[in-house]
Amino acid sequence: MARKKVIVGNWKMNNTIKESLEFINNMKYKMDTNIVDVGICPQYLALSKIKEETKGTNIKIGAQNVHFADNGAYTGEVSTKMLEELELDYCIIGHSERRQYFNETDETVNKKLHKVLQTGMIPIVCVGEVLKEREENIHFEVVEKQVEAAFKDIEILEIQKCIIAYEPVWAIGTGKTATSVQAEEMCKYIREIIANLYSKEVAEKVRIQYGGSVNSGNAKEILNMPNIDGALVGGASLKVEFIEIIKAV
Ligand code: 13P
Repeated sequence: MARKKVIVGNWKMNNTIKESLEFINNMKYKMDTNIVDVGICPQYLALSKIKEETKGTNIKIGAQNVHFADNGAYTGEVSTKMLEELELDYCIIGHSERRQYFNETDETVNKKLHKVLQTGMIPIVCVGEVLKEREENIHFEVVEKQVEAAFKDIEILEIQKCIIAYEPVWAIGTGKTATSVQAEEMCKYIREIIANLYSKEVAEKVRIQYGGSVNSGNAKEILNMPNIDGALVGGASLKVEFIEIIKAV
């Protein structure tokens, strides 16, 4: 069976609650489709209202991060239990900005993944190399290590629920997109890693997105690649342009 494409907007630390609602209200009918899975990950405070606002549409809503504990003395953190109350669809895990600025490691990514898989949310697990690693030609090794660590002790039935996002760090927010060939090459490699860890059949089911300066101009070419099943979009998801990316599918 063909894998359904999935386009998710990661709004990062942008848009107040009011701005988030305005955006969704203006765009929700244009984003409401069942040909492709469309999701938005707004900031935490807007989640509940955005979820309400999109009720009755096909738009999926996700969190950008979560903690791996259920509750406790973790000032400033939010647990899966809290997110579950909102009946969210997605939860991004291990985004490179979390790894870079908030000291997330492969180990915490794995812990979070285990936790999210106990909920109804679909995890979007991010991996990707930094520029230096690509220049040193160790990007395949780096991504392989990240994938293996993220999916440590994840069962065969669980991995099939996951989405993996390949986001080369050097392409995020830089306007420097990986070429469709570079993106396809790594997404294909990730599928091979999953095939080795689980089975070829399972690997064929897992959806792998590309992320990094995806916009209305390059989306079509990227999304046409056989191993790229969608996009995780940052900057362009904050604009009307996001609709064009959805249409590119
Ligand atoms: P940009 O699309 O702004 O490069 O961000 C990509 C990203 O990090 C999505 O998670």
